[in-house]
Amino acid sequence: MIRALVLVFCATTAVGAETQRDPEVLKHFVHQDCGSCHGMTLKGGLGPDIRVETLQHYDPDVLRGVILEGIPGTAMPPWRPLLSDPEVEWIVDYLLTGEE
Ligand code: HEC
Repeated sequence: MIRALVLVFCATTAVGAETQRDPEVLKHFVHQDCGSCHGMTLKGGLGPDIRVETLQHYDPDVLRGVILEGIPGTAMPPWRPLLSDPEVEWIVDYLLTGEE
């Protein structure tokens, strides 16, 4: 299920190291793909709650690392192969501020 979502996502958008997809696409990605574990509203599921209120204590650099590298030994996967640097920046910003 998760893999299918990721494949659909990759097939419909070009991935390049410096390119950044449309914020609407990224928002959709966060809610669909991250949401497949963290819940569509990000308030938790298999993975923990990652709403703004909950992630406030996170340093942006640490959050970036968690997204890029995942959390070894848990179901949280590394996203480096799928997201460009500007996209990870956008997601970090979105998760910490709730603003697009
Ligand atoms: C396959 C399931 C899965 C997917 C997909 C997933 N995560 Fe996770 N994530 C987890 C799990 C499980 C944990 C908790 C790991 C642990 O036990 O520390 C986690 C932990 C996290 C944490 C740390 C939360 C905290 O309170 O410390 C963040 C932040 C996070 N994920 C963000 C994301 C983002 C952003 C995405 C999408 C790019 C994503 N996750 C996609 C399963 C997933």
